[in-house]
Amino acid sequence: MAFNFDSCPERAGTDSTKWHRYANRDVIPSWIADMDFESPPAVVEAVKARAAHGVFGYPAQRDEVFASIVKYMKRRHGWDIRPEWITFMCSLVPGIHAAIRCATKPGETVVTSSPAYPPFLTAPTISERTSIKLEMVFENGRWTYDWAKLEVACAQSSSRVLLLCNPYNPLARVFEREELERLAAIAKKYDLTVCSDEIHCDLILDPKAKHTVFAALNDDAAARTVTLMAASKTYNIAGLTCGFAIISDAGLRTRFRRILQGMSLDQNVFGLAATQAAFDHGEEWRIACVDYLRGNLELIEKELKDMPGVVLRQRPQSSFLAWLDVSALGFEDPHAEFEKGGAGLSNGTDFGGVGHVRLNFGCPRSRLQEILNRMKKVVAKAKK
Ligand SMILES: Cc1ncc(COP(=O)(O)O)c(C=O)c1O
Repeated sequence: MAFNFDSCPERAGTDSTKWHRYANRDVIPSWIADMDFESPPAVVEAVKARAAHGVFGYPAQRDEVFASIVKYMKRRHGWDIRPEWITFMCSLVPGIHAAIRCATKPGETVVTSSPAYPPFLTAPTISERTSIKLEMVFENGRWTYDWAKLEVACAQSSSRVLLLCNPYNPLARVFEREELERLAAIAKKYDLTVCSDEIHCDLILDPKAKHTVFAALNDDAAARTVTLMAASKTYNIAGLTCGFAIISDAGLRTRFRRILQGMSLDQNVFGLAATQAAFDHGEEWRIACVDYLRGNLELIEKELKDMPGVVLRQRPQSSFLAWLDVSALGFEDPHAEFEKGGAGLSNGTDFGGVGHVRLNFGCPRSRLQEILNRMKKVVAKAKK
């Protein structure tokens, strides 16, 4: 079946966070991480069928939904999980908070990294935990950890949790097995709980890269890890609010669930239907979508040749987000300059990356071209 990613429905005026920000301005939104594409036909049909039922009482998680997730993890990632390891949530951010709270006391330390998806930076503070934000380093053509500094941070007597973004937003790294094994060894040595956010794991753009589920590395990693996943990024259903944690260790799972209890964090009936349809019937669409995103990435690389001072250090290996170093342009507030020029990018400072912006390329190619054209005009005006 052919899918048309070149055109997509109008999103302005559709309760979209991404589009609402620029409702009355000529700025193309290219910030928050959802795509402009229509979800897979099977997902749209499942949601329509659920809506047609007309009764929207409290949801229950049927065995079939658990079975879909179990099957998908095996098929996509070779990971054997059991249904009882799964905890549904309305989205993954509460899972990041719960993982921190269930494994630390106030004042204890969470080891995280920078630049990072903003909740990785803010969640420890919100819970009155301290955090160590390790700068990721660019070495041998790839973004990775500063291993010596990571070990020092994890060795601190107050360190309890390691937050891992696998694949990594915003650097779009797909970590190699050897890097994850190194992380797992450090977590074991210093007895840390690992929160592995793997929401971007099904959009792997680099044909040579392979996603490795951190908890599937070995028994020790499994026992100390909260894995966060969802169909939301890959199948573009973030607005249906459905994510889940997978935790094999019964003690850790009980502590995690206790934190979430009473916090009104259930998913809704549409999210369940969409997740099941995406995992059961979305594969052809997913492959086509990855292929389209690869084409978009090629366009970005071509256009960046005409944007001196805009640097994409490493070709994104995953997802639809490009982390751009624009510090050489000499702008005090690069995000504001691009916005004034009509390109609504994410502000790098929100991710701990001063002098950077993040470009969301999950959109039709013609729209991406227009965003890049606008960016080029802004770059041409920079003093440098
Ligand atoms: C790494 C990561 N985790 C979680 C989320 C958000 O997940 P949710 O919408 O399920 O809270 C995002 C969204 O961009 C993300 O990049």
